[in-house]
Amino acid sequence: MEEEAKNLIDIDEISLNGKSSRFPGFYKHDLSIRLDLLEQWYPLTTNEKWMLKRETLTPELADVMVENAIGVFGLPLGVAVNIQLNERDYIVPMVVEESSVIAALSNSARLIRDHGTLTSEATDPIMFSQVQLVEVKNPEHAKKTILKKKKDLLRVANQQDPVLAKLGGGARDIEVRIIDSLSGPMVIVHIIVDCRDAMGANAVNTMAETLAPILAELAEGEAICKIVSNLSDRRLVRVRMEMEVDCLARAGFTGEQAADRIIKAYHFAEADPYRAATHNKGVMNGIDPILIATGNDWRACEAGVHAFAARTGKYKPVSHFSRDKSGKLIGEMEIPMALGIVGGVTSIHPGVKILLKLMKVKTSKELAEVAAAAGLLQNFTAVWTLATEGIQKGHMTLHARNVAVFAGAIGEMAIKVANQMAHEGRVRYDRAKQILKHLLVRETQDQEDQNQ
Ligand code: MEV
Repeated sequence: MEEEAKNLIDIDEISLNGKSSRFPGFYKHDLSIRLDLLEQWYPLTTNEKWMLKRETLTPELADVMVENAIGVFGLPLGVAVNIQLNERDYIVPMVVEESSVIAALSNSARLIRDHGTLTSEATDPIMFSQVQLVEVKNPEHAKKTILKKKKDLLRVANQQDPVLAKLGGGARDIEVRIIDSLSGPMVIVHIIVDCRDAMGANAVNTMAETLAPILAELAEGEAICKIVSNLSDRRLVRVRMEMEVDCLARAGFTGEQAADRIIKAYHFAEADPYRAATHNKGVMNGIDPILIATGNDWRACEAGVHAFAARTGKYKPVSHFSRDKSGKLIGEMEIPMALGIVGGVTSIHPGVKILLKLMKVKTSKELAEVAAAAGLLQNFTAVWTLATEGIQKGHMTLHARNVAVFAGAIGEMAIKVANQMAHEGRVRYDRAKQILKHLLVRETQDQEDQNQ
């Protein structure tokens, strides 16, 4: 195995974090061999490999995690390889049911690694919670009174989380807004907190609940909601990709033509919210599977990204494509990313703990940078495919495997049936049944011939 692994890894490609994530032909191997190959990247123990393959979460732990647990639900776990970001290599774990996602990320990562650059930068991990104050007689006066007490309020907030303060985080600021609503004016207080490596919802919610009665008294009003805002627009990631266009040639289009079609496809999303929603779904295809694999709250992140996409009052694509003066294709994206690598599920889920080690991310900021970059690459691949050969060909090849399994094929046979259907361009249950029957008959005949 070691010899095989050595041949697969180009040892000249060593990145800033010491190892190359370039694994040519990774997809061609058996699942168990893939796990062995990953040892070249990170020293997984035999037990860790077994857990990743068989049991990332036990029923006993599931029972602790949720009410009324009745079991543990499985989804495919894979890794995207080849990723190079900010001159570092990454192997990215993804939990996802959609067949094309991991392949698309590994392929586009290889392409940009050879023909471009990928960078991303996250801001400090700043979250905020909101305290809603109603029945406030004089909102302007309440605002001034609260702001005058800022120092004291921050001190009380920070007493709630001494560990966070010790790690260099904690409540940083208090802001007050007055908004109009169906129930009349409301005073909304934002408690702004540096959450370091935690996602932070728990920390900011505790601070909001602690400060709420004090704020209500200062405002001479009543506090209702005390909760994190998932539009975490102070915890942003900016991603940028640059790519030579020659490598984009596909399906009879030259690289130049493909790049121009990519930009026109993006302009469609820019002009039309119906398309923008699907464009942004393509971004989230790259992000959500990483969030699930790392135990993060993907619903919070989805809510944040879509709210951010609509921040101008019109729903827009979160990524943008253009060409620079030298003709390179440029992809850019800015999105909120509230992720954690400590606390909550990340600290107790055995599978998540292994996968975070495998990813080699050291901070929540770094995880956000990788996840957002995966989102942009995934989105780029989808738009490139749409702009050239269309999405169904590739999708169908992979979807064919599901149809083959549904028709009763297993293992190698499922792949043979799927390949035949993809080759014929007929991915249907009845056709899968026919091919399977034919292959099984042939296999039995071959066996008989051998026995004679
Ligand atoms: C499918 O999961 C995602 C796409 O629809 C994204 C897009 O249309 O840009 C292909």
